[in-house]
Amino acid sequence: PGSDSLTGRRIVISAGGTREALDPVRFLGNRSSGKQGIALAKAAHAAGAEVELVAANIDSGLLSDLPAGITITPVESTLELQTAMHASQPAADALIMAAAVADFRPAETTGSKMKKTGDDGLTLRLVQNPDILRGLVDERVGAQIIVGFAAETGDAQSTALDYARAKFARKGVDLLVFNDVSNDRAFGHDHTAVQIIGSADGQTTIGEEFQGSKDDVSQKVIAALTEQLTD
Ligand code: C5P
Repeated sequence: PGSDSLTGRRIVISAGGTREALDPVRFLGNRSSGKQGIALAKAAHAAGAEVELVAANIDSGLLSDLPAGITITPVESTLELQTAMHASQPAADALIMAAAVADFRPAETTGSKMKKTGDDGLTLRLVQNPDILRGLVDERVGAQIIVGFAAETGDAQSTALDYARAKFARKGVDLLVFNDVSNDRAFGHDHTAVQIIGSADGQTTIGEEFQGSKDDVSQKVIAALTEQLTD
């Protein structure tokens, strides 16, 4: 995208991985580094957008790499991420959910450190987290563009792409960036391979597989997003 193709546009990007507290020192989390979301924020900023990065537990060294002018909103848990995204939704031209969101959180969080249980082991009860992306689609403002990510693996029944196509239909997003993680190609690495799923004239469109650095992939995603923005 050109250096001013997103001038005057506000883009909100979630990145990193949420953490669900068990007690003051422990959490359930995931391995997302936040690199993809950071690359997206840089690409959108370079295209002239006003960018807010809602950063879930991203290493401060990675965040310090960001150009000045990008607003960083730090969050930890899924519920905090959801609150931050909805707070920013009304003024946004586009929202990108690149964060890896915990599907479940502990039913209870204790205020003091959990103690060892002896030989009894420990059973954790988890409750389902909200699907933030779904909620954003439900509350879409005007012609707002909403972008999701989908890391999928194939199995005996379906290919990873089939699952991504079904997810695109189900989630109601404008664009779904599909990442085939069958061979552990995404998390924590600088290189990735994606296909961008969208729609044109009521038909689902599936982009060619694109391989490159997370910066290269971000250029593609921002270009696809820019194309969808109207007026
Ligand atoms: O359903 P799945 O988790 O594969 O969907 C991935 C997409 O949905 C990503 O864009 C992710 O940020 C978003 N997501 C979400 N809330 C959840 C789980 C995923 O917004 N609870």
